[in-house]
Amino acid sequence: MMTTIMQYPFSHQPVLLPEVLEALNIQPYGIYIDCTFGRGGHTRAVLNRLGTAGQILAFDQDPEAVQAAQALELADPRFSIIHSTFAQLAQQVEKRGWFGKVDGVLLDLGVSSPQLDTPARGFSFMHDGPLDMRMNPNHGESAGEWLSKATANEIAEVLKTYGEERYARRIARAIVAACQQTELNTTHQLAEIITAACPSPSFRKRKVKGVFKHPATRSFQALRIFLNRELEQLQQILPQTLDVLALRGRLVIISFHSLEDRVVKRFVRDCVRGDDFPPDVPVTSDALHPRLHAIGKPIFPSVAEVAKNPRVRSAIMRVAERC
Ligand SMILES: C[S@@+](CC[C@H](N)C(=O)[O-])C[C@H]1O[C@@H](n2cnc3c(N)ncnc32)[C@H](O)[C@@H]1O
Repeated sequence: MMTTIMQYPFSHQPVLLPEVLEALNIQPYGIYIDCTFGRGGHTRAVLNRLGTAGQILAFDQDPEAVQAAQALELADPRFSIIHSTFAQLAQQVEKRGWFGKVDGVLLDLGVSSPQLDTPARGFSFMHDGPLDMRMNPNHGESAGEWLSKATANEIAEVLKTYGEERYARRIARAIVAACQQTELNTTHQLAEIITAACPSPSFRKRKVKGVFKHPATRSFQALRIFLNRELEQLQQILPQTLDVLALRGRLVIISFHSLEDRVVKRFVRDCVRGDDFPPDVPVTSDALHPRLHAIGKPIFPSVAEVAKNPRVRSAIMRVAERC
């Protein structure tokens, strides 16, 4: 069933904006790919630094993000949008004859503020809305549909794997029991079931990094990551970036939780290290054939940025250069 696309007045503050622009090392006539357009905060800032022959290609799987991007596409011939997952990167770049010619690839992972703040999208336990959580609501199963069919073991596995939720089993059993009584349709219903399944009031009020975390935080994160296949998509795109980037082209990735960052960190480490040789074989560094060179250390938002936009507090940016 097609979901109606509606316009909401919510905006998205681009995270680490000056740091992203510096990391991309923008060439006025370069080719850039924004794999996660959102509302185009990063894209617009890159466009401001590009000359007339520069180009940006963007991806987003969310129809509302694509609708916002289409307005920009009409207004600026240097920009084009593809409504697809970013796992199509290599295919789309090859179509344009840009293999090995791209000067920068940006991935600003996760969900956007408009997705979180629009109750109808069902991503947040802060607002009551339909239990959806799909970045593309016209594709795949909603959270409500999946939960109504899943077993307690399957739910617990998702909560543990993608949310590192300590009380995954209890919560999963409570969800299955609730689904046997009634239809699970809304974000508030789910948040209440999770809160009631958590063991003690002290847990309910637990403070992480100075912030009180709602007991449903980890479960909502886990379901969203699972339903949108977020880690699989990331694992698919990372090797493709090596084929599309030009020599000295930049790869800039912003992650928002440790599972994502772990995947990125390992990928960069392996590409910097190069080919695997048995430890007793003497090899020169050239023969290792490294694919990336790490640029600096991971970058975190400043205290001032977090104060202005607390959502960015868990962001971590890694930068690497094709070599
Ligand atoms: C954090 S927001 C990006 C915000 C953007 N940088 C800005 O400044 O407005 C992430 C966006 O990426 C999209 N997205 C996440 N995973 C995706 C994927 N695998 N393929 C395509 N788009 C994806 C989401 O729909 C969301 O709009």
